[in-house]
Amino acid sequence: MKTIIITGGAGFIGSHLIRLFVNKYPDYKIINLDKLTYAGNLANLKDVEKMPNYEFVKADIVDADHMFEIFDKYQPDGVIHLAAESHVDRSIANPNEFIFTNIVGTTNLLNAARKTWGDKLDDKLFYHVSTDEVYGSLGETGFFVETTAYDPRSPYSASKASSDHLVRAYGHTFGLPSVISNCSNNYGSYQFPEKLLPLFINNIRNKKALPVYGKGENIRDWLWVEDHARAIDVIYHQGKVGDTYNIGGHNEWTNIDLIKLMCKIMDSKLNRKEGESEQLITYVKDRAGHDMRYAIDSSKLQDELGWTPSLQFEEGLEKTIDWYLESDEWMNEVTSGDYQKYYDEMYKNR
Ligand code: NAD
Ligand code: TYD
Repeated sequence: MKTIIITGGAGFIGSHLIRLFVNKYPDYKIINLDKLTYAGNLANLKDVEKMPNYEFVKADIVDADHMFEIFDKYQPDGVIHLAAESHVDRSIANPNEFIFTNIVGTTNLLNAARKTWGDKLDDKLFYHVSTDEVYGSLGETGFFVETTAYDPRSPYSASKASSDHLVRAYGHTFGLPSVISNCSNNYGSYQFPEKLLPLFINNIRNKKALPVYGKGENIRDWLWVEDHARAIDVIYHQGKVGDTYNIGGHNEWTNIDLIKLMCKIMDSKLNRKEGESEQLITYVKDRAGHDMRYAIDSSKLQDELGWTPSLQFEEGLEKTIDWYLESDEWMNEVTSGDYQKYYDEMYKNR
């Protein structure tokens, strides 16, 4: 029986990863360690919460003593670390929380793993889940590879880059067995509606303005969240200790093309006239320091570990839209409370 602590398991990607591991590995004990911030939601895990190999522990990774206690109690064989403040716009409005959770929190977990594991490092692994945003911004051509120099440009990406460096430093200095993956933009169910896709799907549905930053020309490389979870599974079990793997969909879209496609699909699903939802598009003030283009070269992961994305984007996008349209209760719950306040604050001066 292996015990794995997954941090941030109540968030978007974490909940998909927990679902995959709890179902696929009945012999593993999966501990979901999460603070339940605005982005963490146990409703994302209703279908697995009663499984015998799953346990939820509410904790803040910034609390170093609590991390030592939890590691001491559960004696994990592995850690898959996803807990983070993850939204670029929030990092521009209030960077400090990103420093605490993403940098200090990661260091606390590294210290707890080091202390608990001591020199018994066989079969132990600290897996750090990171983002392609650490590499900075691309021009019209080229791709991020694992050796691309770090050039983070937002408080979010700078805090993630810093945590990546710390994980590598603990590997190099203390011999802590670790692996890192850097993934492109994910899409799918259970994503908090502050990120582009769920926010715009919700706004289109409610006939609210669609706030496109700048000219909508920025490019992102979109990957189905379940393909990211599958990649993490493959890397956790077969990745080389000390290595880094890029994960991406080879699926680049300008924001405006993607938004128009979403409008078109939703016009048809909501029985609206063709072109009706596009009228909601409103160009607003650009995000400060807005990275122009992200594009990942994931050939190392594909060639060495045999992972490939499973879904065509158009199919995944339609499935995603269907899920949000069918999940009123979930959307109503996450947009109640502080959400409206967040939305008004974030978009009032744009
Ligand atoms: P998310 O914001 O949906 O979820 C983050 C989770 O972490 C939440 O459950 C939250 O409660 C928890 N959390 C936050 N602060 C915490 C703290 N101090 N202690 C304990 N738990 C805390 O994020 P996500 O989109 O699922 O991203 C997960 C990870 O994947 C992050 O590390 C992010 O940097 C990385 N990532 C995300 C994307 C993407 O497209 N969303 C792409 C590449 C990498
Ligand atoms: P986002 O989902 O925040 O992911 P990231 O910034 O981490 O890539 O944004 C995706 C793209 O959509 C990004 O170029 C910013 C843009 N965007 C808008 O144009 N309007 C919005 O309201 C949001 C949230 C994002």
